Amino acid sequence: MTFEELKQIADSVGERQGWDFSRMQVDCDPMPWDYLEVAARYLRPTDRVLDVGTGGGEKFIQLAPHFGEGIGIDFDPEMVATAQRNLPRDTPIQFEQMSTDSLSFEDHSFDVVLNRQAPMAADEIARVLKPEGYFITQQIGSSNMRNILMEFGWDLATLPQAKGVQTYIDAFESHDCVVVGQATYDVRYFVRDVESLVFWLKAILHYSATGFPETFDIQKHWQVIDRIVSKYQTPRGIETNEHRELLIVQKRSRSF
Ligand SMILES: C[S@@+](CC[C@H](N)C(=O)[O-])C[C@H]1O[C@@H](n2cnc3c(N)ncnc32)[C@H](O)[C@@H]1O
Repeated sequence: MTFEELKQIADSVGERQGWDFSRMQVDCDPMPWDYLEVAARYLRPTDRVLDVGTGGGEKFIQLAPHFGEGIGIDFDPEMVATAQRNLPRDTPIQFEQMSTDSLSFEDHSFDVVLNRQAPMAADEIARVLKPEGYFITQQIGSSNMRNILMEFGWDLATLPQAKGVQTYIDAFESHDCVVVGQATYDVRYFVRDVESLVFWLKAILHYSATGFPETFDIQKHWQVIDRIVSKYQTPRGIETNEHRELLIVQKRSRSF
């Protein structure tokens, strides 16, 4: 594809609002779990629930029918404003600007803490969980969209997704928590058209928002995009992979 064609696509696909990726056309092999279904299984109608790194609240808001009261926190004020705009009337959720490593809540304030594809601090989460409360996180795996990211020439070990949930386990165990569930999947994932690929790259390549080494720039990146499209195009779309990790921990009861 030419620079002009890709520039026109980059100009037309718009900007990500919050963390809403619904404009992307994708197809993927079956996944062994769905984050919202897993989280819902741990929620009770009386629960007080915290969502750490809530973004525009897109996922957290969908869980509202399953709990009593929710608080979503994000350190980016624009995300908090987006989440407040996304919140349907009479939904029992509040959004606050706060950093994950300094939660301004009393000890033992929450029945469940959630965290989807956002940073977290195990010591703070363990502190604010009630005894026997659950923490559920889904993280982006270190190999996620590996072939596409490799084309940019970055060292994948330096990317934010390289951390993996394993690094958090020791921290939770040293803060009175036990691992009660852990899983991973890495499935084929197809981006159906170039517009969706460009939207995704524009959405994630922001050093300040995601820690990726570069910010999207069509002038600089069009040849990489052209190479990805020609190398990985298949009848199902541009082939890549989705790698996710799930970790569920429980805070010990007071009697331990
Ligand atoms: C990839 S988004 C995920 C948003 C949402 N949880 C979801 O699954 O759609 C990660 C979010 O974490 C937030 N974030 C990053 N570092 C943070 C920190 N130290 N404290 C609080 N929020 C943080 C970002 O602003 C961003 O909104």
